[in-house]
Amino acid sequence: MNQSIQSLIFKLGLGAFILLVITGFLPLLYGENVQTGWWMISHATIAPIFSILVAIGAFLWVKSVGIGFKDSSQNKCAKKIVWVYLIFFIPNALSILFSMNTWFPSSIQHFLLQVHFYTAIGMFLLALLYLNFSRQDKG
Ligand code: HEM
Repeated sequence: MNQSIQSLIFKLGLGAFILLVITGFLPLLYGENVQTGWWMISHATIAPIFSILVAIGAFLWVKSVGIGFKDSSQNKCAKKIVWVYLIFFIPNALSILFSMNTWFPSSIQHFLLQVHFYTAIGMFLLALLYLNFSRQDKG
């Protein structure tokens, strides 16, 4: 039961993550300087759903494989990748939340947007690495 909920959360989270990658990077690849219009509306709508799925998914994941690296049922490398991904998620989410209000001057808001961009690249690469590892694990 717990395993099937975990697998469902993982799949929904992965789907939301893929949509965030598409709505985040595609407008930049199309040559736009910043994310605007429907790209931003879709991105900002999916983001809270993704954040909730990450929080629930992380909780279920830690419950099933444990915090430490000893005697873990999961491949050690895959586990390290998940930890780094979860650590990257914190500056990724906080940077954009702080950049969207007027607490900081525009130079810092610009810096925060860059933190969002570079941690997003990091999360994307880590997700690819993780999927590669789990594919190898299945043989
Ligand atoms: C944690 C939840 C997230 C929230 C609340 C969020 C929100 C936003 C917002 C509001 C923007 C527009 C910023 C602006 O142009 O002023 C943005 C841009 C962007 N987001 Fe996210 N996002 C989240 C997660 C992600 C994830 C997981 C990725 C990809 C892995 C991602 C990739 C991007 C990219 C590439 C941009 C464009 C950055 C730029 O113009 O330099 N975001 N995000």
